[in-house]
Amino acid sequence: MLKLSKLAVAAALVVVAGAASAGEVEVLHYWTSGGEAKSVAELKKIMTAKGHVWKDFAVAGGGGDNAATVLKSRVVSGNPPAAAQIKGPAIQEWASEGVLANLDATAKAEKWDALLPKVVADVMKYKGNYVAAPVNVHRVNWMWANPEVLKKAGVAGMPKNYDEFFAAAEKIKKAGLIPVAHGGQNWQDFTTFESVVLGVGGAKFYQDSLIKLDQKALTSDTMKKSLETFRKIKSYTDPAAPGRDWNLATAMVMQGKAGFQFMGDWAKGEFLAAGKVPNKDFLCAAAPGTANAYTFNVDSFAMFKLKDAGAQKAQADLAASIMGTEFQEVFNLNKGSIPVRLNMNMDKFDDCGKASTKDFVSTAKSGGLVPSVAHGMAIKPAAEGAIKDAVSQFWNDDKISVADGMKNIAKAAATK
Ligand code: GAL
Repeated sequence: MLKLSKLAVAAALVVVAGAASAGEVEVLHYWTSGGEAKSVAELKKIMTAKGHVWKDFAVAGGGGDNAATVLKSRVVSGNPPAAAQIKGPAIQEWASEGVLANLDATAKAEKWDALLPKVVADVMKYKGNYVAAPVNVHRVNWMWANPEVLKKAGVAGMPKNYDEFFAAAEKIKKAGLIPVAHGGQNWQDFTTFESVVLGVGGAKFYQDSLIKLDQKALTSDTMKKSLETFRKIKSYTDPAAPGRDWNLATAMVMQGKAGFQFMGDWAKGEFLAAGKVPNKDFLCAAAPGTANAYTFNVDSFAMFKLKDAGAQKAQADLAASIMGTEFQEVFNLNKGSIPVRLNMNMDKFDDCGKASTKDFVSTAKSGGLVPSVAHGMAIKPAAEGAIKDAVSQFWNDDKISVADGMKNIAKAAATK
């Protein structure tokens, strides 16, 4: 009989124990662009190093509408993934179905309550229990630019208000380039729209009109001015915009075909993945009129109740890894977002990331911190979908007057 040394037996037992506690973790997400894919690969690396089997369930389609549809069909058929990219009020809706796993054991062991801004921790909980792990903080009210295009067009710098913006757009048009790179999908239209509402009306008006869905605010002169500004931006996009993916619009700015893009800072992930350097190859600035405001978009993963012990262990490890310092740094450096975990060392982050962190803290104090409606952080999915459709109809059809557009949006906002 082969005489195994005590060490070999101990080592074998550790391997067996490890294997028993390892499990397969299938993760549904929609991060399929260059920067996004690079970022999620970091999570896969961390989980694989812990001995788990990562099953990547990537559903293409920026903004996540396609992924949400696929997720519903998987859960309805009784075969949910271990984890899925779910965020904002949708977390509450899924939790109320009783299908989400309780993450309190991990959250307690890892002290999440002390490591998260309360506004974020509350979104991750259902009836006081953690049911989702937060990944990052994306800022949505950014505008990106190619400095070479601005120089060619004789534009001095990033516009701070819409008078400066339209003067710059006119110069870029005259220089024979596309002033605004845009992709015609409803979440992209709304990403631009909510930045315009924030810039024209300010944070309180944004809250009243797009979050409280106050009919008076939705039919006010400020909303009229917002829609006029929104329509004028449309006139500076190119005819091939309808249906274009957001990252292809970012590529237009990167390649010097277009001057500006209104987009969240996942666009920075595309510039970085292409080896571009902030303040040299691209510029970041708050969208016109929004320097003292911050539209936040927190990505998160909810875990579904599973029976298998190995899978449950893998889910707990996934939740702990997501909030761990290693992932919080390496993922957000690639993704263009900033860590959601407080007191992280920001030395490796670039100027855009450092500005985002500073502004997140200052706007939380000033009242300028608002949740992104375009990215599912603010209102119930049904109302959000109805308003997005009304806004995109207005964006796509110049025959819809501002007055009718405003009426249609107010009506959609009343969707229960
Ligand atoms: C957002 C998501 C971001 C980014 C973007 C484009 O909704 O929160 O992480 O990936 O869509 O797909």
